[in-house]
Amino acid sequence: MRNPDQYRLQPPYMKYLIIIFLISGQCQGCLAQSNTEIIPQADNSRPYALVAGGSKGIGYGISEALAKRGYNLILIARHLDTLDKAKSILESTFHIHVEILPIDLSFDKSATEIAKWCTDHDIHLKVLCNVAGMGGSRDYLSLSLDSLRYMVRLNVESCMALSLVLLPLLEKNSPSYILNVASMAGFAPIPVKNMYSATKSAIVFFSYSLRYQLKDKHISVSCLCPGPVFTKPEIVKDTKAKLGKFGVKMALQPEYVGEVAVKKTLKRKLIIVPGTLAKISSVVIRILPRRWIVALYGRAGKKAGAKKVKANS
Ligand SMILES: NC(=O)c1ccc[n+]([C@@H]2O[C@H](COP(=O)([O-])OP(=O)(O)OC[C@H]3O[C@@H](n4cnc5c(N)ncnc54)[C@H](OP(=O)(O)O)[C@@H]3O)[C@@H](O)[C@H]2O)c1
Repeated sequence: MRNPDQYRLQPPYMKYLIIIFLISGQCQGCLAQSNTEIIPQADNSRPYALVAGGSKGIGYGISEALAKRGYNLILIARHLDTLDKAKSILESTFHIHVEILPIDLSFDKSATEIAKWCTDHDIHLKVLCNVAGMGGSRDYLSLSLDSLRYMVRLNVESCMALSLVLLPLLEKNSPSYILNVASMAGFAPIPVKNMYSATKSAIVFFSYSLRYQLKDKHISVSCLCPGPVFTKPEIVKDTKAKLGKFGVKMALQPEYVGEVAVKKTLKRKLIIVPGTLAKISSVVIRILPRRWIVALYGRAGKKAGAKKVKANS
């Protein structure tokens, strides 16, 4: 027979056993869940468009124009707050589905991570828009080596890498579209924007050749080459300083540029220059000999620099 003390000792042991039993049961549940991780499948009732740099500025204008046409969206940018804001406005206004991926496109692995995410989620990708890019008033001679490399990675490498890794999905869902965002600066060598115009001309040439290469796969490639677009105060200031009243007249708003870009991309146009003044200027820039253009832009840049020094002194 057990003594009464033994009976008294039983309840605490039992408690521990029950806790261990419950915890192990719960852990098994967790493991079971992570072993068979459920990746939510995309809402493929509508086709998807991926906008790299779609949270602000021209990229947001493009996203809005695509949403208006019923495309679901995948928006990529670095900052989660602006991505969240864009998602909630676009979803509530256009009743589409928006996925957001906070990723820095200048990193080596970003393109492959994005492609893997799209494949894992079975995205019905129809449109790829490579929009993210940077300019700035400091260019080449006053640029640090790190900033120089960052600009090349973001403006050139990210566009070329993302296009390559997403080709299988675009081909699977063809007819499909790639929209690369360059600039009017890509039509001419600009001494005060040497790096910027060089990276953007790379995107223009890349788009021409890629369009030819993908013709048989029914993937259309377009290249947006806008003049000044007033997306932020620095651009307004820079345009006034370097191009004066003419530049201000040529400047456009990002919503308008996005609308024109999407409309013409879906019509399979190769080079897209929104706005009449910008269009005329771009024709002149492309016709004139390069030496003249460099000298013209060089002089305009020097004038703007001299004005800036005078204003600061
Ligand atoms: N504005 C103009 O006058 C003009 C004229 C001609 C061509 N362009 C070209 O048009 C494109 C857009 O210009 P914008 O003025 O609209 O620029 P913006 O207003 O600065 O918007 C840039 C977009 O790209 C994202 N982005 C920037 N760096 C990124 C990075 N490293 N990784 C991921 N996302 C990044 C930004 O979000 P986060 O900051 O959160 O990353 C934002 O969504 C650029 O390629 C630019 O060169 C602009």
